[in-house]
Amino acid sequence: MPNEIGYASKKKISLKGRDFLELQDFSAEEIWKILKTTRTLKKYRGKKINKLRGKSVAMIFEKPSTRTRVSFEVAVEELGGKALYLSRNELQLGRGETIADTARVLSRYVHLIMARVYKYETLEELASYATVPVVNGLSDINHPLQILADLYTLWERFKKLRGLTIAWVGDGNNVCNSILIGASKLGLNVNVATPPGYEPHQRYLEWSKANASQSGSNINLFTDPSEAVRDADVIMTDVFVSMGQEEEKERRMAIFYPKYQVNMELMARARADVVFMHPLPAHRGEEVTDDVIDSERSLVWEQAENRLHTSKALLYLLL
Ligand code: CP
Ligand code: NVA
Repeated sequence: MPNEIGYASKKKISLKGRDFLELQDFSAEEIWKILKTTRTLKKYRGKKINKLRGKSVAMIFEKPSTRTRVSFEVAVEELGGKALYLSRNELQLGRGETIADTARVLSRYVHLIMARVYKYETLEELASYATVPVVNGLSDINHPLQILADLYTLWERFKKLRGLTIAWVGDGNNVCNSILIGASKLGLNVNVATPPGYEPHQRYLEWSKANASQSGSNINLFTDPSEAVRDADVIMTDVFVSMGQEEEKERRMAIFYPKYQVNMELMARARADVVFMHPLPAHRGEEVTDDVIDSERSLVWEQAENRLHTSKALLYLLL
C-alpha cells in the first residue's frame, strides 16, 4: 500500500515498454511513480532532457483534439524526440488498410504509438500487433491520459490525494470511467451523479469498487447532483455530448440540462474550499456556467497545462 506521496516499499518500479491503454492495469505504486516523475519534469522544464533523442512517436487521431495533440507533441519534443501527427483519413488506414498492418509497419519506424480512437477495441488491436508501446489518447470508454493530469492537479492543490472526495456531475462517460479507476486506486472517494441510464460503465464500477475496498475509499452513485456534491473537495464535469454522440444531442440535452449543470448554486452546496475541474473542451452555458469555470475555484487551466507534464512523465517512463 503506498503512503500519501510515495510508496511503502523501495522496490524499483519500471514501466519501460508497457502499453498505457487502461489505468486498471497499473498499480497504485506505478501511478504514483508517474505523478512523482511529473513533479520532477515540471520543476525542471526548460532544462535540456534528451531522453527521446533519436526517437520518434506516431500520433494517430480518428477524432479532433487540441490538448492531447499539442501537449503530447510538445512533450515528445521537449524530451528531444520527434512527433508525427497522423490523422486517420490521411493514412492508408482511412482507405481500408488494417489496424494490424498499420501497427506492424509503424512499429518499424517509430518507438511509440499514441492513438485517439472511436472504439477501445481499436487500441487493443493496435497494441496486439505493435511491437512498441501504445498509449491511449481517448476512446469511447476511457481517457486515462486525462486522469494522470487530473490526479496530478489535485495533488498539487491539496498536497495529498488519499481521502479527498470527487463529485462527478453529468454524464457517466469515458472520462468518468477513468476517474473512477484512478481515484479508487489512490484512495480518493468518488460520488457520481448522473441521470438514470447514464451511469458509468458497469465494468468500471466493478473495478473501482474493488479498488476502493483495497485503498479504503468509497464509490457512490446518485441521481441528484446536490446530494453528490455534499462534502466534495472537487466537482468535476464534462460535456453532455461526447465526440461520436452528435446524433444524440437533442435527447441528451433534454435529459441533462439544466439539472446536471455545474453552476454557483451547486458549488455552494459543496465544501467551502471546493474546486472545479473539467477536462475541456467545455460547452459554456451547458454543463458549466461561465462564472464557475472562470472563477478562482476553477483549476481547468492548471489541469490543461498538466497534460503536458504528465505526458512527458509517461513518455519518459515508457521509453
Ligand atoms: N481533454 C482533452 O483530451 O482535450 P482534447 O480533446 O482537446 O485533446
Ligand atoms: N467526453 C469527451 C472528452 C473530450 C476530451 C469526449 O469524448 O468527447
